[in-house]
Amino acid sequence: MNWSKTIRERRSVRRYSSRPVAQETIDSLLNEAAHLYRAEGDGASHWRSLCYRTPEARHRLADSMIAKIKGSTLGKLLPGKMIDLIKKQATDTPAHLVFIAESGSTQRQSDENYAAVCSIMQNVQLLGWELGIGMLWYTDQILNSAAFEREIGLREGERFAGILSMGYYEKVPRARKRTPAEQKWTIVEGDVSGYADHLQVSSRSVLALLNDAVWAPNDGLREPWRFIYAGGGEAADRLRALNGDAAAAFLLVVAKEESDSHKREEDYAAVCCLIQNFQLLAASEPWPVRRTMPEWIYDPEHCKPFGVRPQERIVAVLALGGDGRDSRSTPSSKKT
Ligand SMILES: Cc1cc2nc3c(=O)[nH]c(=O)nc-3n(C[C@H](O)[C@H](O)[C@H](O)COP(=O)(O)O)c2cc1C
Repeated sequence: MNWSKTIRERRSVRRYSSRPVAQETIDSLLNEAAHLYRAEGDGASHWRSLCYRTPEARHRLADSMIAKIKGSTLGKLLPGKMIDLIKKQATDTPAHLVFIAESGSTQRQSDENYAAVCSIMQNVQLLGWELGIGMLWYTDQILNSAAFEREIGLREGERFAGILSMGYYEKVPRARKRTPAEQKWTIVEGDVSGYADHLQVSSRSVLALLNDAVWAPNDGLREPWRFIYAGGGEAADRLRALNGDAAAAFLLVVAKEESDSHKREEDYAAVCCLIQNFQLLAASEPWPVRRTMPEWIYDPEHCKPFGVRPQERIVAVLALGGDGRDSRSTPSSKKT
């Protein structure tokens, strides 16, 4: 698979042909997508998905989706035709996959589970694109209703992650431009020559990958990400010690924190998609990437020295190059 091409060419698709998407195709997309996600955690899956493919199932899902509109003051003002149209669109879509993540006992565990399901959803979108299947990641507030939760059987300790509505596409939607990664990029402690360069994880090669990775889906095109690169000097030393990883360089992938909780969650998901893109792209590089969510990223005092701002949070620390051995037993910042 040419990941760079697929990542750049994938589009959110809202109109589908009437051709059904076979259950076997959906099953194999899910299996492959889960396999592609390299979990850093215990390797167990803390997510589940529900498939709505038959006309009856799609009707039921559509009914639960419009329940909130119907019950709302706004819904009562909407012409019946409009509600029928929303329902028809959901019912006519060949298949919907609902994704649900387990919550964890800690914030970090919950984030890990949610990041995993978001990454798998992105993999499903990319793999589907290669088969001519277009998808739309749907999280609209109208899904925030008891009727919808009842329909998907949401249990205590579970979190709805999103719906991937899908079908074969006939026309590829127009691309919506992305901001070049350079404009969302900071280098801490300027020293990128030497160790990181020698191991081919220079800022230039990381930026090249990021400029493909930014073609991640993101609601409202908010592009809620920012990148902090540490390729040498004291910052990289500190990260080696904090992460217990002898990486040559580190990339901190940061999300902007919206005050609206729905947007904040969508933005976190979008950043997870971008990170997943980066990992897929890096798999063909001569250097490895380890995606980590260490405990220290939850402590603002640890994040501040790297330039993380008050309305931001680190979503993942990507350890680039090196062999991942604990740096506390290896000489750090070695220049060859
Ligand atoms: C977490 C998440 C939630 C989204 N929710 C919606 C949604 O509710 N409605 C919608 O039309 N698009 C939604 N999208 C898709 C974005 O609108 C789309 O990715 C963006 O417009 C960029 O277009 P592209 O995916 O074709 O590059 C969502 C995307 C993500 C990642």
